[in-house]
Amino acid sequence: MSLAKTLDQLEISPRKREILTLNHSYLMPNRVETWAGAGVPLVIGRREGYRFWDIDGHELQDLHINGGTYNLGHRNPELVRALVKAVATLDVGNHHFPSEARGRLAEALARHTPGDLHYSVLAPSGGEANDVAIKSARRATGRRKIVSLEAGYHGASGLSGAAGNDTEAAYFHSDYPDEFVKVPFGDLDAMEKALSGRDVAAVLIEPIPATFGFPIPEQDYLPGVRSLCDRYETLLVADEVQTGLGRTGQLWAVETFGVQPDMLISGKGLGGGLYPIGVVVMTREVGAWLGERGWGYVSTFGGSELGCVVALRSLEISASEETARNVAEMSVHLEQGLGDIRSRHPFLCDVRQKGLIVGLGFDDPYGGLKMAAALYPLGLWAMLAGFDRRYLQFKAGLLVDRAFLDEALEKLETAIRRVAG
Ligand SMILES: Cc1ncc(COP(=O)(O)O)c(C=O)c1O
Repeated sequence: MSLAKTLDQLEISPRKREILTLNHSYLMPNRVETWAGAGVPLVIGRREGYRFWDIDGHELQDLHINGGTYNLGHRNPELVRALVKAVATLDVGNHHFPSEARGRLAEALARHTPGDLHYSVLAPSGGEANDVAIKSARRATGRRKIVSLEAGYHGASGLSGAAGNDTEAAYFHSDYPDEFVKVPFGDLDAMEKALSGRDVAAVLIEPIPATFGFPIPEQDYLPGVRSLCDRYETLLVADEVQTGLGRTGQLWAVETFGVQPDMLISGKGLGGGLYPIGVVVMTREVGAWLGERGWGYVSTFGGSELGCVVALRSLEISASEETARNVAEMSVHLEQGLGDIRSRHPFLCDVRQKGLIVGLGFDDPYGGLKMAAALYPLGLWAMLAGFDRRYLQFKAGLLVDRAFLDEALEKLETAIRRVAG
C-alpha cells in the first residue's frame, strides 16, 4: 500500500502528515512505512522526565528510554543546567589539544570503572567506541580475530557492525566472517572452541544482550568467559552501552557478575540524552598505543568539550548513592508488580530482570511486537527486542518513582488482556 493510503487510514493532523511525508521523501522511506503500517505514526514533540508527547498530543510513558539514553530522564534539569552553563564559554573544542573538560571526565571514568581500567578514548557514539576497542585489542595482541555473541549488537559503524548481526553486515558487504566469529550466548564450550586456536584478539560481549531481549546469563557465564580469555591470552571487552551506568543495580553490569574486563564501553546515557558521547575505558597495557601514537584515533567530535561536561555530571548522578538506592527500591517494586501480573496472565511467560533492566517474554512468536503496538494507544512506549520478537524490552529510568511504575504496570496488564484475550 502507498504511504498516502496508509496515512489516510490513520487519524493524524496535517502537520504530522507533512512531517511523515518529508521524512519518507528525504530520509527514511522504509522506517516511515514500517511504523505507519504498524499503527505507530509517532513523531515526538515535547519531552520531559520519563514522558514524551507525540506532536498530535498523545502522551506516552517512556519505557524504551532509547536503551538508557534517557536513564536520567528527558532533559534532566541538572544536565540541562550543566550544558547551558558550559555553552556560555565552551564549544566542541579542538580535538588535537588537551582540554580541562576531557581530562576531568577521563579521570572520573578511571575512578568509577572496575579494576585497573585507566585510559579513556572518547568517541562520538557507542559504535565508534567499539571500533576503537577492536582496534586497540588488535594492536595490543597482534591478533585480528574478534569473537562476539550471535545475540549481540554493538553499533552500526564499520568494525562494530561486523561484530554484530551477520545478515545486517552482509547486506552492506561489510561482513568479515574469517575475522569476526560469532558464538551462541551462554555456551562456554562454544566460546572455548572459538578461543582455543590462540588467535583471537578479544571477546566483545554485552553482559546482558539487550537486542536479544535481555537474557540474564547464568552467574558463572561471564566469570567463565573471563577465565577462558585468560587461558588463551584474549582480551575481554564489556560493551556496557546499554547495561552500564547504574541500570542493573551496580554502576556496571560486569560488577554484578564479579568480572573485570580489559576494556569497557559506555555511551547512550553518558551524554544524558543531550550531547552525543561514547567512550572506551581500557587498561594501561591495552592503551599502550596512546603513549606512542598521539593521533592513532582521531575524531573531530569525539570527546567534544560540551559532551564531556554533560557526561561528567551524568556519571556523577548515575554513580551516586541516592540513585543506587532508588534503583534498588524500584527494582523490587517492579519485580513484585511483574510477578503479580504473571501469576494472573500466563501469556506473560517469562520475566528477565536485573535491576531496572527487564525483558518480558510473551507466549506468541510476535508477542513483543503485538504488545508494543497494544501499549502505544494506552500511552506507553516500549520497544520489542529486535533479535527475538517474542520479547519486549521494558526499561525504566534510574529516577522513576512508584507511581510511575504502577501506572506502567496497569497499562501492561490492560495490553496483555487485549492481546491475549
Ligand atoms: C549494546 C550496544 N552497543 C553499542 C551500541 C551503539 O551505540 P550508538 O548507537 O551510539 O553507536 C548500541 C546501540 O543501541 C548498543 O545497544
